[in-house]
Amino acid sequence: MYPEIRMRRLRSSNKIRELVRETSISTSDLIYPIFVDESISVPQNIASMPGMQRIPLEGVVDDAKESVDLGISAVMIFGIPSKKDESGSSAWGEDDVVQSAVREIKGDLGKDILVITDVCLCEYTSHGHCGVVDYDSESVLNDPTLPLLGKVAMSHAKAGADVIAPSGMMDGMVGTIRSSLDIGGFENVPIMSYAAKYASSFYGPFRDAADSSYSFGDRSAYQMDPGNSNEALREVGLDILEGADMVMVKPALPYLDILYRIKNEFKLPTAAYNVSGEYSMLKAAASLGWLDERKVMYESLLSIKRAGADMILTYFAKDFAKMLK
Ligand code: PBG
Repeated sequence: MYPEIRMRRLRSSNKIRELVRETSISTSDLIYPIFVDESISVPQNIASMPGMQRIPLEGVVDDAKESVDLGISAVMIFGIPSKKDESGSSAWGEDDVVQSAVREIKGDLGKDILVITDVCLCEYTSHGHCGVVDYDSESVLNDPTLPLLGKVAMSHAKAGADVIAPSGMMDGMVGTIRSSLDIGGFENVPIMSYAAKYASSFYGPFRDAADSSYSFGDRSAYQMDPGNSNEALREVGLDILEGADMVMVKPALPYLDILYRIKNEFKLPTAAYNVSGEYSMLKAAASLGWLDERKVMYESLLSIKRAGADMILTYFAKDFAKMLK
């Protein structure tokens, strides 16, 4: 006890603090999300996400290369198609936006980069929901959606995606995608499942970015209820049984308790998605001079790792890498 024990001894200088620090982050923990827009020819700023842009197909290799040069060698690709329809059919064509982007990036950067693709239908459907919609009941039909997700995953793997990341929160989606990939000869392509994805309002800025807002209702009949925690363990447990190699918790900061429980329970490689709203609120406060942007960025990412994340998807990835340099 005090005065023999003084906790402040190990805090007395920067050098000693560095030595005893339990958690660290490096650029190899980060995954950078890229929004590829099929309809534009020059990058476009995303108003609600300062510092982020929609990238044209012509610019995607440069964007990915910049990321690799900064030490972030994993990217997550989101597509914004030039046309949408009822079933989201531009999500699975051989020459659609994600498939083309993946082919270009892998063609140029090959093994220097890990390309992860988001598998969901909401950016591709005219109604903006993540699956096949029944208008009478205003609901998203689970089982008819599964084969479409299988097709999307296959088309991404064929284009050269290194990891497939289904985010639609349909029951059975991981199992369906695993068997499609296996039948198609992609048994070595891992699945990173957005296993515990909450119906969160922190996705607001992303929906501007990816033009994936819904025309009616919301996503609470398929994404998780923010009040639940035990249910997240069931979701993750099932996805692992269906063949998930890595699991994700999303959002990150308001759900660190979930991340902590999942990592402790399953010990699988676990990702956390530091989502658009988490990014934009720090950017907004920093732009008003209310927060020190670099410091809150670092502290946020550090807390996500401390809670148990092995990897973090974050729009701050490049900013963080630049800060290290
Ligand atoms: C769905 C998807 C969403 C995000 C990633 N994948 C949006 C949603 O579920 O409505 C959100 C990411 C973010 O907010 O940064 N394809």
